[in-house]
Amino acid sequence: MRASAQILGAPIARVEGRLKVTGSAPYPIDVAVSDQAYAVLVQSTVVRGRIRAIATDTAERAPGVVTIVTHANTPSFPLGPMTPLGPSPLPPLQNADVLHYGQHVAMVIAETLEQAQAAASLITITYDQAEPTLSLDEPSIAPESHPWLPDQIRGDAAEALASADVRLDETYMTAENTHNPIGLFAIVAEWRGDTLIVHDTTQWPHGVKETLAGAFGIEPANVRVQTPYVGGAFGAGLRVWPHVTLAALGAKLARRPVKLVLTRAQMFTSLGHRPMSVQRLRVGASRDGRLTAIEHEARSPLSIAGEFFNPVAAGTAEAYSCAHVTTRDRQIRLNVSLPSWMRAPGHAEGSFALESAIDETAYLLDLDPLELRRRNHAAVHPHSGHPWSSNALLECYTVGAERFGWHGRTPAPRSMRDGRLLVGYGMARAALSAYQAPCEALATVRRDGSASIRSGATDIGAGTYTVITQLAAELLGLPVTRVHVGLGDSDMPKAPQQGGSGLTAALGNAVHAACRDVIHAMLDLASKDERSPLHGCTVHTVEIRNGGIQRLRTPADNESFAEILDRNGLEELTREGASEPPSTATMAHAGPFGAQFVEVDVDPDLGTIRVERVVSVIDGGRILNEKLARSQIIGGIVGGIGMALLEETVSINGRPINTSLGDYVIPVNADVPDIDVSFVGGPDPMTEVGAKGIGELALTGVAAAIANAVFHATGKRIRTLPLSLDKVMD
Ligand code: MOS
Repeated sequence: MRASAQILGAPIARVEGRLKVTGSAPYPIDVAVSDQAYAVLVQSTVVRGRIRAIATDTAERAPGVVTIVTHANTPSFPLGPMTPLGPSPLPPLQNADVLHYGQHVAMVIAETLEQAQAAASLITITYDQAEPTLSLDEPSIAPESHPWLPDQIRGDAAEALASADVRLDETYMTAENTHNPIGLFAIVAEWRGDTLIVHDTTQWPHGVKETLAGAFGIEPANVRVQTPYVGGAFGAGLRVWPHVTLAALGAKLARRPVKLVLTRAQMFTSLGHRPMSVQRLRVGASRDGRLTAIEHEARSPLSIAGEFFNPVAAGTAEAYSCAHVTTRDRQIRLNVSLPSWMRAPGHAEGSFALESAIDETAYLLDLDPLELRRRNHAAVHPHSGHPWSSNALLECYTVGAERFGWHGRTPAPRSMRDGRLLVGYGMARAALSAYQAPCEALATVRRDGSASIRSGATDIGAGTYTVITQLAAELLGLPVTRVHVGLGDSDMPKAPQQGGSGLTAALGNAVHAACRDVIHAMLDLASKDERSPLHGCTVHTVEIRNGGIQRLRTPADNESFAEILDRNGLEELTREGASEPPSTATMAHAGPFGAQFVEVDVDPDLGTIRVERVVSVIDGGRILNEKLARSQIIGGIVGGIGMALLEETVSINGRPINTSLGDYVIPVNADVPDIDVSFVGGPDPMTEVGAKGIGELALTGVAAAIANAVFHATGKRIRTLPLSLDKVMD
């Protein structure tokens, strides 16, 4: 049985676009419930130590104060449950210990936001300070590896390096970056008896539900988390952060709904960040341009206050055809706030080092950097030896070089100019490991000819509402206007985070299964019914068309779903579908691939870098909506420009200091050049929908392509991000 419409792939506008541009999409920060009080967090001003005394009496007598929560009146919470991506952060306010700057130490709840802010300023805290551990080189601390990120070893990289014709051994650094969605993270928590209702900025309603149920010892069924619209998140909403538990506790103690909105400065220490990394790359190659050895060791800070892992070096094991490879990811526990995943986590940082090192190796070999990548293309998954489920990387290179005009590049550094400006061309490989988690969805077809899909996943702006609408419309043979997709409610079927670029495949496959079962149930009703023109038909003799079923050979024999329901006296028919990650026993589950080509202008007097144009060619499997896919890629590239040139969370003695959008600089329109995006490749056979996750891919490779272009322009190899003008000048 096949669906005949061609709705998938069509570049339709976001189905929720009108709601968003008219300001009527209810983001968590917009939620107001009756009788809500306002919570304000007080955070530690010291980096490590112990609260000796916390004086709240003046604040308690301040106008409008409802209650004040400190470690003294907080119950002990059980440790958060294991999540699919590691254990949850520690519960809040469990004792007087301070492990990092910006740790929540108190929460004031008052009638108004202003009263809560005023009272919070009246709390005085004295600390016994201790010497914090802040250096990655601290000799007393052993770097740890995470159980989910084992060293990857094939061959003998050390020996192959020793005997290589050409060797590179360099250290690269990436800066700490902070997710900066424009929407501040917000939560409204309300208890109705033993039931907890929460509106929360999260990428994971079911995770919030289960974490809060565990924290308060109630049944998960008694927690409802609603997040129909998230706003940006970029990974900041992948975990259940301590302020979420605090808001729910506040509502319990205050005996009324509580709204808590993080401030911009609090967003820098409360929701994770991309930790900085120090990466040593050793590359060996033969004179004829074959990579013979790669060793990639990455070190990053981890907090004393929780668990997290980040695959910085890990992606290198599947990057190139190379017989001798070792990757090691190491973390060092410091007195910093807990890092977390941020857009193409690990891969963004790791690809900067690897793709810079490949460019450097190409220069050592006097070989075109694109040609070096081609020669060492991994035609099969290099670590497992299994065939890729799909891989159009070579085509990305070819199409990208053509569209960019790579062959017009003169290889020598400082050889291209535009007036007094130095011009550089750089490129890099882009890739993201495949990720998929189990997911469930409901499909309902109604007697009025409409259909709906429901799943507890969220749409953080990636276009999930729209592509799932298109998918269901195509599967059910309905116009997109007759399909409604409901997301962002933990009362809907269980779904993973919108994260790891894995939701489109996970949810898409679940929707596929649910729609298939609805169709089979419809067919069953019709086939057994002598009154139906489809009497006696089977799945092999019909197709789905116009919201119904028709015989392949005699299309006049058809019936709409509405007619089938009507005759059977049914209002609607619902089926649940589930999806699981694909088996990788015999085939490597390919993530998306791409090639990034960048032209920069560098002012030799001022050291300023301007990205003049970007050509990005992407293998994203089946593209479900070309307009939205392009906008995902553009977003990733803009993120990459920020990472390369601008973004850096600067801390002094453990205290982040540039915690505002005025001081933490991200690209604005004037920084964003012409971005040419094209798609190659075709459906990936590992998923029914054929799509690969493209939400984060485009951030990978961008920083390296820019750094490589800056080297080409200036002859200066900068191995530390961001590529600020002081580094160009120095
Ligand atoms: Mo992304 S860091 O998986 O939101």
